[in-house]
Amino acid sequence: MKLCIIGSGYVGLVTGACFAEVGHHVICVDNNQKKIDMLLAGQIPIYEPGLEELVTRNVAAKRLMFTTSIEEGVAHGEVVFIAVPTPPQADGSVDLSYIEAVAREIAGVLKEYRVIVDKSTVPVKTGEKVAETIRRYNKTGCEFDVVSNPEFLREGCAVPDLMKPDRIVIGSNNDRAVSLMKKVYEPFMAPILVTDINSAELIKHAANSFLALKISYINAVAAICEASGADVEKVADGIGMDRRIGRNFLNAGLGYGGSCFPKDIAAFISISRQLGVPFTLLEEVERINASALEHFLVKVREALWVLRDKKIAVWGLAFKPDTDDIRCSVAMDLVVQLLKEGAYVSVYDPKGMEKAKELGTLKKATFAASPLEAAQDAEALIIATEWEEFANVDLAALKKTMHTPLLFDGRNLLHPDIAREAGFTYVSVGR
Ligand code: NAD
Ligand code: UGA
Repeated sequence: MKLCIIGSGYVGLVTGACFAEVGHHVICVDNNQKKIDMLLAGQIPIYEPGLEELVTRNVAAKRLMFTTSIEEGVAHGEVVFIAVPTPPQADGSVDLSYIEAVAREIAGVLKEYRVIVDKSTVPVKTGEKVAETIRRYNKTGCEFDVVSNPEFLREGCAVPDLMKPDRIVIGSNNDRAVSLMKKVYEPFMAPILVTDINSAELIKHAANSFLALKISYINAVAAICEASGADVEKVADGIGMDRRIGRNFLNAGLGYGGSCFPKDIAAFISISRQLGVPFTLLEEVERINASALEHFLVKVREALWVLRDKKIAVWGLAFKPDTDDIRCSVAMDLVVQLLKEGAYVSVYDPKGMEKAKELGTLKKATFAASPLEAAQDAEALIIATEWEEFANVDLAALKKTMHTPLLFDGRNLLHPDIAREAGFTYVSVGR
């Protein structure tokens, strides 16, 4: 099929590449000229495992193209996906101006029937607004359908998530649109759930909120484990072995971050309030998450007493492993706080350092070329992101290079016995 994706970021670019991989002919549109120039020059603007090979292969096969022109994209794609940002506003509600702008732009160039698919994460009832906007600004009066098709990929494993999805949700009130959408997804051989548009939009916020709830739940349990001498990993294993609960998303740590959970949970709280049915449980989820970092820092301060002028190494800046994404990263917040308290902070992240440098909030930190370089002469080391590279570090060499073998593991990456046997004073979360 001929497809168009508007917005070539984490979702749009990976989705476009995966659609091309299964044989569709895809144009990815972006209004960021620099991004499109990079893609046209064969460079990938984001780090996502497996993406580069996929893009290179499909560009060579002429199934994947890039442009800044929505007109060209809409002329090409019988199905047009919208994957632009839906950032939070100060009050937690969603800024829908990107979606509205794209809807108007599509309306301006729409000449024949198209299925317009919202893949961005949006509040329930956005589909209705998108349809209204296109109707209002389209001069030709041509037919179109609006579909909600939320995306569930995770950064760091976006390619496998897209190629082998747990489910595809198609929210539509129209059979013609549903059958075209089924055709798009047929090659993926995944279970398809067809719903009305509002339900599909709600599924996305409800799913992310539930996952965030699991994380806050285990972090609250971790605090009880610390107070009682229990081990949160064992507790998570024990509850996770119940198939009704499951072990996934029960890893205690510094809390959830990233460009999705914090904004989507805030959005769902805001939507529920607007609808007159406040979802107060999610306010507690947010509160627990916000306190996770401070709870951890208390332990750092207890051990180091005053942080001013101490040399502290931090491993990890990305909001999770296998990505260069530092948006709303708890690891970044941690470094900012340590700097604020006057510590000398030396950081290392396998993929996130370029973006952290560009952002400029860590100007006072030193960026190291390796984990061991960051840890040199450090009075403490904090693991803030659970990259595999950190799990494989030679602990004897690490101990030798540090000033004091004091190790804070904010992601429970290492085994406590192994760290302690290697001579470290080891502090982790909930155990
Ligand atoms: P992103 O910022 O990485 O990419 C969005 C892209 O849209 C950018 O490249 C931007 O230049 C482009 N853009 C903005 N306005 C445009 C316009 N008018 N015309 C053309 N291009 C335009 O964002 P993302 O992480 O890909 O997220 C996109 C949406 O998908 C959000 O709603 C997000 O919540 C949702 N989502 C994200 C993830 C994820 O893991 N990142 C997963 C599922 C859903
Ligand atoms: C999340 C969802 O998992 C995706 O399904 C969804 O599509 C996406 O948001 C989105 O809507 O944009 P993502 O943010 O990429 O994906 O990453 P996750 O793996 O979910 O991790 C989010 C945060 O939770 C990270 O900071 C991670 O460290 C934290 N986390 C995750 C925990 O603290 N504990 C866990 O057990 C799992």
